[in-house]
Amino acid sequence: MDLVAQAKKNAGHRAADMVKDGIIVGLGTGSTVFFAMERLGERIKTEGLSILGVPTSHQTAMRAEEYGIPLTTLSLHPVLDIAIDGADQVTPSKQMIKGRGAAHLREKIVADAAKQFVVVIDSAKEVPVLDAAVPIEILPFAYGSVCKKLVELGGEPVMRNGVKKDGPVISDNGNYIFDCAFGKVDDPALLESAINSIPGVLENGVFAKMTEKTIVIVGKSA
Ligand code: A5P
Repeated sequence: MDLVAQAKKNAGHRAADMVKDGIIVGLGTGSTVFFAMERLGERIKTEGLSILGVPTSHQTAMRAEEYGIPLTTLSLHPVLDIAIDGADQVTPSKQMIKGRGAAHLREKIVADAAKQFVVVIDSAKEVPVLDAAVPIEILPFAYGSVCKKLVELGGEPVMRNGVKKDGPVISDNGNYIFDCAFGKVDDPALLESAINSIPGVLENGVFAKMTEKTIVIVGKSA
């Protein structure tokens, strides 16, 4: 396992070890949170840990099945005790950009529903200022008008196209994903609100308004 994977595993396992018996856990999407889920699966088998997970993507639901983590829904459990998720960039004030895997719509819903948001990263994700292109989930019907407004906001939206697939990436929710560069983001909360105020935007990958309940775990590789 390379050093980055070791750091992700360390972060994921530390987050999983924070999970207490009998709670409802939001399960994010991505390689780091999958290490947390692997560890939760081990704890279920060896300690008899009893939890229910709410998955943020089809991929996470499939991983949960593989690791033996029982699942529930937000309808049955609209308040979660904790959500564990990865991120693409995180600032010292715990604002972040997420959505490399196009799962940020459900990830934000689940993080918002959780009392505590535990973000698991390796140190390469730590940045002084957010500057990555912002993933934006857009209703296909509205992508033209949304892109025009994103340009007016100062962004450069680019449709995300599929790997091993011709044409646009379609999210788990049936929508398009655009990556929109804004350069350095001075006020992430303002940008998050501005993007989401465009009719046809379902959600964007700036997570700037849940810093108070966020804990960031930076994994170590040794
Ligand atoms: C999924 O859409 C993303 O928000 C991921 O949570 C994020 O990209 C982190 O992924 P890794 O843990 O694989 O780096």
